[in-house]
Amino acid sequence: MRILTAARFAGLVAAGALALPLAASAAEGGGHITDVSYSFEGPLGSFDQAQLQRGLQVYNEVCSACHGLKFVAFRTLGDPTGPGYDDAQVAAMAGLYQVADTSDEALPGDTRTAVASDKFPPNDAVGAPDLSLMAKARAGFHGPYGTGISQLVNGIGGPEYIYSILTHYTGETQDVAGVTLYENETMAGGLISMAPPLSDDIVEYADGTPATVEQMAKDVSAFLMWTAEPKLADRKAAGARNFIFVGLLAVLLYLTNKKLWATVKKKKAA
Ligand code: HEC
Repeated sequence: MRILTAARFAGLVAAGALALPLAASAAEGGGHITDVSYSFEGPLGSFDQAQLQRGLQVYNEVCSACHGLKFVAFRTLGDPTGPGYDDAQVAAMAGLYQVADTSDEALPGDTRTAVASDKFPPNDAVGAPDLSLMAKARAGFHGPYGTGISQLVNGIGGPEYIYSILTHYTGETQDVAGVTLYENETMAGGLISMAPPLSDDIVEYADGTPATVEQMAKDVSAFLMWTAEPKLADRKAAGARNFIFVGLLAVLLYLTNKKLWATVKKKKAA
Protein backbone atom coordinates (compact mmCIF):
# COMPACT_ATOMS: atom_id res chain seq x y z
CA MET A 1 0.00 0.00 0.00
CA ARG A 2 2.74 2.37 1.01
CA ILE A 3 4.81 1.38 -2.01
CA LEU A 4 1.86 1.90 -4.30
CA THR A 5 1.27 5.33 -2.90
CA ALA A 6 4.91 6.23 -3.30
CA ALA A 7 4.87 4.97 -6.87
CA ARG A 8 1.76 6.99 -7.62
CA PHE A 9 3.35 10.00 -6.03
CA ALA A 10 6.46 9.54 -8.19
CA GLY A 11 4.22 9.16 -11.23
CA LEU A 12 2.38 12.35 -10.41
CA VAL A 13 5.64 14.23 -9.96
CA ALA A 14 6.87 12.94 -13.31
CA ALA A 15 3.60 13.86 -15.00
CA GLY A 16 3.77 17.27 -13.39
CA ALA A 17 7.32 17.79 -14.59
CA LEU A 18 6.23 16.94 -18.12
CA ALA A 19 3.05 18.99 -18.02
CA LEU A 20 4.71 22.15 -16.76
CA PRO A 21 6.94 22.86 -19.77
CA LEU A 22 4.04 21.97 -22.04
CA ALA A 23 1.77 24.45 -20.33
CA ALA A 24 4.50 27.05 -20.46
CA SER A 25 5.07 26.60 -24.18
CA ALA A 26 1.32 26.71 -24.85
CA ALA A 27 1.10 29.99 -22.98
CA GLU A 28 3.87 31.39 -25.16
CA GLY A 29 1.57 31.39 -28.18
CA GLY A 30 -1.10 33.81 -27.04
CA GLY A 31 -1.68 36.39 -24.38
CA HIS A 32 -0.76 39.38 -26.50
CA ILE A 33 -2.92 42.37 -25.48
CA THR A 34 -2.98 45.77 -27.11
CA ASP A 35 -3.94 48.57 -24.75
CA VAL A 36 -6.76 50.59 -26.25
CA SER A 37 -7.94 53.90 -24.89
CA TYR A 38 -11.72 53.89 -24.58
CA SER A 39 -14.03 56.75 -23.69
CA PHE A 40 -15.44 54.77 -20.74
CA GLU A 41 -12.13 54.50 -18.88
CA GLY A 42 -11.20 56.61 -15.89
CA PRO A 43 -13.35 57.70 -12.94
CA LEU A 44 -15.57 59.93 -15.09
CA GLY A 45 -15.57 57.89 -18.28
CA SER A 46 -18.78 57.23 -20.19
CA PHE A 47 -19.78 55.36 -23.33
CA ASP A 48 -19.49 57.10 -26.68
CA GLN A 49 -22.98 56.75 -28.17
CA ALA A 50 -21.85 56.91 -31.81
CA GLN A 51 -19.27 54.22 -31.09
CA LEU A 52 -21.88 51.95 -29.45
CA GLN A 53 -24.10 52.35 -32.50
CA ARG A 54 -21.23 51.42 -34.81
CA GLY A 55 -20.32 48.46 -32.60
CA LEU A 56 -23.91 47.23 -32.69
CA GLN A 57 -23.84 47.49 -36.47
CA VAL A 58 -20.72 45.29 -36.54
CA TYR A 59 -22.39 42.80 -34.23
CA ASN A 60 -25.58 42.75 -36.34
CA GLU A 61 -23.82 42.38 -39.67
CA VAL A 62 -20.85 40.16 -38.74
CA CYS A 63 -20.69 38.54 -35.30
CA SER A 64 -24.36 37.54 -35.00
CA ALA A 65 -23.85 35.01 -37.81
CA CYS A 66 -22.15 32.76 -35.23
CA HIS A 67 -22.49 34.35 -31.77
CA GLY A 68 -25.55 34.99 -29.61
CA LEU A 69 -26.25 37.89 -27.26
CA LYS A 70 -28.89 36.15 -25.21
CA PHE A 71 -28.82 38.32 -22.07
CA VAL A 72 -29.37 41.61 -23.90
CA ALA A 73 -32.92 42.87 -24.40
CA PHE A 74 -33.59 44.94 -27.53
CA ARG A 75 -35.37 47.62 -25.49
CA THR A 76 -32.08 48.44 -23.68
CA LEU A 77 -30.77 49.74 -27.02
CA GLY A 78 -32.91 52.78 -26.17
CA ASP A 79 -31.05 53.53 -22.92
CA PRO A 80 -29.77 57.13 -22.98
CA THR A 81 -26.35 56.01 -21.65
CA GLY A 82 -26.30 53.16 -24.19
CA PRO A 83 -26.79 53.29 -27.96
CA GLY A 84 -29.72 55.67 -27.29
CA TYR A 85 -32.03 54.67 -30.14
CA ASP A 86 -35.64 55.88 -30.26
CA ASP A 87 -38.57 53.44 -30.13
CA ALA A 88 -38.89 53.12 -33.90
CA GLN A 89 -35.18 52.41 -34.30
CA VAL A 90 -35.25 49.83 -31.47
CA ALA A 91 -38.20 48.10 -33.16
CA ALA A 92 -36.31 48.10 -36.46
CA MET A 93 -33.24 46.53 -34.78
CA ALA A 94 -35.38 43.82 -33.16
CA GLY A 95 -37.01 43.21 -36.54
CA LEU A 96 -33.63 42.03 -37.90
CA TYR A 97 -33.81 38.91 -35.72
CA GLN A 98 -35.91 35.77 -35.45
CA VAL A 99 -36.56 34.37 -31.96
CA ALA A 100 -38.16 31.16 -30.73
CA ASP A 101 -41.96 31.33 -30.90
CA THR A 102 -43.25 30.12 -27.55
CA SER A 103 -46.93 31.00 -28.02
CA ASP A 104 -49.53 28.28 -27.46
CA GLU A 105 -50.23 27.71 -31.15
CA ALA A 106 -46.53 27.44 -32.06
CA LEU A 107 -44.88 24.12 -32.87
CA PRO A 108 -41.45 23.36 -31.40
CA GLY A 109 -38.81 25.06 -33.49
CA ASP A 110 -41.17 27.75 -34.80
CA THR A 111 -39.74 31.25 -34.89
CA ARG A 112 -41.19 34.73 -35.14
CA THR A 113 -39.75 38.19 -35.72
CA ALA A 114 -38.39 39.70 -32.50
CA VAL A 115 -39.97 42.74 -30.81
CA ALA A 116 -38.47 45.31 -28.43
CA SER A 117 -39.29 43.28 -25.29
CA ASP A 118 -37.39 40.22 -26.59
CA LYS A 119 -33.75 39.46 -26.03
CA PHE A 120 -31.25 38.92 -28.82
CA PRO A 121 -31.41 35.22 -29.78
CA PRO A 122 -28.77 32.74 -28.65
CA ASN A 123 -26.68 31.15 -31.40
CA ASP A 124 -25.13 27.73 -30.83
CA ALA A 125 -24.81 26.74 -34.48
CA VAL A 126 -21.01 26.59 -34.66
CA GLY A 127 -20.24 26.39 -30.93
CA ALA A 128 -19.26 30.05 -30.61
CA PRO A 129 -19.59 31.41 -27.05
CA ASP A 130 -22.33 33.92 -26.20
CA LEU A 131 -20.94 37.45 -26.29
CA SER A 132 -23.28 39.19 -23.78
CA LEU A 133 -20.82 38.99 -20.88
CA MET A 134 -17.60 38.27 -22.76
CA ALA A 135 -16.05 41.65 -21.87
CA LYS A 136 -16.29 40.70 -18.18
CA ALA A 137 -15.45 37.02 -18.64
CA ARG A 138 -12.01 37.65 -20.10
CA ALA A 139 -9.20 39.74 -18.65
CA GLY A 140 -6.59 41.46 -20.75
CA PHE A 141 -4.46 42.75 -17.90
CA HIS A 142 -2.94 40.02 -15.78
CA GLY A 143 0.06 39.71 -13.57
CA PRO A 144 0.86 40.95 -10.09
CA TYR A 145 -1.89 43.39 -9.34
CA GLY A 146 0.06 45.48 -6.87
CA THR A 147 -2.22 48.10 -5.36
CA GLY A 148 -4.84 47.53 -8.04
CA ILE A 149 -4.74 51.19 -9.05
CA SER A 150 -4.22 50.22 -12.69
CA GLN A 151 -7.30 47.96 -12.65
CA LEU A 152 -9.28 50.69 -10.92
CA VAL A 153 -8.40 53.19 -13.62
CA ASN A 154 -8.19 50.96 -16.70
CA GLY A 155 -10.49 48.06 -15.80
CA ILE A 156 -9.46 44.45 -16.17
CA GLY A 157 -8.99 44.72 -19.90
CA GLY A 158 -11.95 42.67 -21.15
CA PRO A 159 -12.66 44.94 -24.13
CA GLU A 160 -8.91 45.12 -24.87
CA TYR A 161 -8.92 41.31 -24.94
CA ILE A 162 -11.75 41.23 -27.49
CA TYR A 163 -10.08 43.97 -29.55
CA SER A 164 -6.80 42.03 -29.50
CA ILE A 165 -8.39 38.70 -30.48
CA LEU A 166 -9.90 40.43 -33.52
CA THR A 167 -6.72 42.22 -34.58
CA HIS A 168 -3.95 39.68 -33.83
CA TYR A 169 -4.38 36.97 -36.40
CA THR A 170 -1.02 36.09 -37.96
CA GLY A 171 -2.61 34.99 -41.23
CA GLU A 172 -1.29 31.43 -40.77
CA THR A 173 -3.45 28.35 -40.25
CA GLN A 174 -2.77 24.89 -38.86
CA ASP A 175 -4.65 21.68 -39.46
CA VAL A 176 -5.25 19.87 -36.21
CA ALA A 177 -7.01 16.50 -36.60
CA GLY A 178 -8.70 17.66 -39.77
CA VAL A 179 -9.89 20.97 -38.27
CA THR A 180 -8.48 24.27 -39.49
CA LEU A 181 -7.27 26.47 -36.66
CA TYR A 182 -6.11 30.04 -37.08
CA GLU A 183 -2.95 31.37 -35.48
CA ASN A 184 -3.80 34.18 -33.11
CA GLU A 185 -1.34 35.97 -30.85
CA THR A 186 -3.95 36.77 -28.19
CA MET A 187 -5.83 33.45 -27.85
CA ALA A 188 -4.37 31.23 -25.11
CA GLY A 189 -2.37 28.54 -26.86
CA GLY A 190 -2.02 30.68 -29.97
CA LEU A 191 -4.75 28.94 -32.00
CA ILE A 192 -8.45 29.77 -32.40
CA SER A 193 -11.15 28.02 -34.41
CA MET A 194 -12.83 31.33 -35.35
CA ALA A 195 -11.77 32.42 -38.84
CA PRO A 196 -10.76 36.13 -38.87
CA PRO A 197 -14.24 37.71 -38.87
CA LEU A 198 -13.20 41.24 -39.86
CA SER A 199 -11.68 42.64 -43.01
CA ASP A 200 -11.54 46.27 -44.13
CA ASP A 201 -14.92 47.63 -45.27
CA ILE A 202 -16.83 44.46 -44.36
CA VAL A 203 -19.46 46.85 -42.99
CA GLU A 204 -20.39 50.23 -44.38
CA TYR A 205 -20.85 52.44 -41.34
CA ALA A 206 -24.09 54.39 -41.25
CA ASP A 207 -22.20 57.42 -39.89
CA GLY A 208 -19.55 57.31 -42.63
CA THR A 209 -16.62 56.36 -40.35
CA PRO A 210 -13.99 54.45 -42.41
CA ALA A 211 -14.45 50.76 -41.51
CA THR A 212 -10.88 49.58 -40.94
CA VAL A 213 -10.33 46.34 -39.03
CA GLU A 214 -8.98 48.33 -36.04
CA GLN A 215 -11.94 50.72 -36.05
CA MET A 216 -14.51 47.90 -36.18
CA ALA A 217 -12.63 45.93 -33.48
CA LYS A 218 -12.60 49.00 -31.25
CA ASP A 219 -16.28 49.76 -31.83
CA VAL A 220 -17.55 46.21 -31.34
CA SER A 221 -15.43 45.69 -28.21
CA ALA A 222 -16.79 48.96 -26.75
CA PHE A 223 -20.32 47.78 -27.60
CA LEU A 224 -19.65 44.44 -25.87
CA MET A 225 -18.38 46.29 -22.79
CA TRP A 226 -21.73 48.08 -22.73
CA THR A 227 -23.67 44.78 -23.04
CA ALA A 228 -21.62 43.36 -20.15
CA GLU A 229 -21.93 46.45 -17.97
CA PRO A 230 -24.66 48.79 -19.22
CA LYS A 231 -24.72 50.81 -16.00
CA LEU A 232 -20.98 51.57 -16.00
CA ALA A 233 -21.43 55.27 -16.70
CA ASP A 234 -24.23 55.66 -14.11
CA ARG A 235 -22.08 53.90 -11.53
CA LYS A 236 -19.14 56.16 -12.25
CA ALA A 237 -21.27 59.30 -12.10
CA ALA A 238 -22.71 58.18 -8.74
CA GLY A 239 -19.18 57.51 -7.49
CA ALA A 240 -18.01 60.97 -8.50
CA ARG A 241 -21.06 62.59 -6.84
CA ASN A 242 -20.37 60.69 -3.62
CA PHE A 243 -16.75 61.73 -3.75
CA ILE A 244 -17.69 65.41 -4.00
CA PHE A 245 -20.33 65.03 -1.29
CA VAL A 246 -17.93 63.40 1.16
CA GLY A 247 -15.35 66.10 0.41
CA LEU A 248 -17.86 68.87 1.15
CA LEU A 249 -18.99 67.08 4.31
CA ALA A 250 -15.39 66.89 5.51
CA VAL A 251 -14.91 70.64 5.03
CA LEU A 252 -18.17 71.45 6.84
CA LEU A 253 -17.33 69.13 9.73
CA TYR A 254 -13.91 70.72 10.06
CA LEU A 255 -15.39 74.22 10.18
CA THR A 256 -18.11 73.14 12.66
CA ASN A 257 -15.49 71.56 14.85
CA LYS A 258 -13.41 74.73 14.81
CA LYS A 259 -16.37 76.91 15.70
CA LEU A 260 -17.58 74.60 18.50
CA TRP A 261 -14.24 74.56 20.27
CA ALA A 262 -13.24 78.13 19.55
CA THR A 263 -14.36 79.50 22.94
CA VAL A 264 -12.69 76.68 24.87
CA LYS A 265 -9.46 77.19 23.00
CA LYS A 266 -9.55 80.95 23.56
CA LYS A 267 -9.98 80.44 27.32
CA LYS A 268 -7.06 78.03 27.37
CA ALA A 269 -4.84 80.46 25.53
CA ALA A 270 -5.73 83.26 27.94
C1 HEC B 1 -17.97 32.25 -38.68
C2 HEC B 1 -18.38 32.24 -37.30
C3 HEC B 1 -17.91 33.37 -36.38
C4 HEC B 1 -18.04 34.74 -36.59
C5 HEC B 1 -18.63 35.46 -37.78
C6 HEC B 1 -17.51 35.38 -35.40
N1 HEC B 1 -17.07 34.43 -34.51
FE1 HEC B 1 -16.17 34.76 -32.72
N2 HEC B 1 -15.98 32.78 -32.41
C7 HEC B 1 -16.41 31.78 -33.28
C8 HEC B 1 -16.04 30.48 -32.72
C9 HEC B 1 -16.35 29.13 -33.35
C10 HEC B 1 -15.38 30.73 -31.49
C11 HEC B 1 -14.74 29.72 -30.53
C12 HEC B 1 -13.25 29.73 -30.85
C13 HEC B 1 -12.40 28.80 -30.05
O1 HEC B 1 -12.70 28.55 -28.88
O2 HEC B 1 -11.37 28.34 -30.61
C14 HEC B 1 -15.36 32.19 -31.33
C15 HEC B 1 -14.79 32.84 -30.25
C16 HEC B 1 -14.84 34.21 -30.04
C17 HEC B 1 -14.34 34.87 -28.86
C18 HEC B 1 -13.80 34.20 -27.61
C19 HEC B 1 -12.35 33.92 -27.58
C20 HEC B 1 -12.06 33.24 -26.26
O3 HEC B 1 -11.33 33.80 -25.45
O4 HEC B 1 -12.62 32.15 -26.00
C21 HEC B 1 -14.57 36.21 -29.02
C22 HEC B 1 -14.23 37.33 -28.04
C23 HEC B 1 -15.20 36.37 -30.29
N3 HEC B 1 -15.35 35.15 -30.89
C24 HEC B 1 -15.62 37.59 -30.79
C25 HEC B 1 -16.22 37.76 -32.03
C26 HEC B 1 -16.64 39.04 -32.53
C27 HEC B 1 -16.56 40.36 -31.79
C28 HEC B 1 -17.15 38.81 -33.78
C29 HEC B 1 -17.69 39.86 -34.74
C30 HEC B 1 -16.77 40.87 -35.16
C31 HEC B 1 -17.05 37.39 -34.04
N4 HEC B 1 -16.49 36.78 -32.96
C32 HEC B 1 -17.46 36.75 -35.21
C33 HEC B 1 -17.05 31.96 -34.47
C34 HEC B 1 -17.31 33.19 -35.06
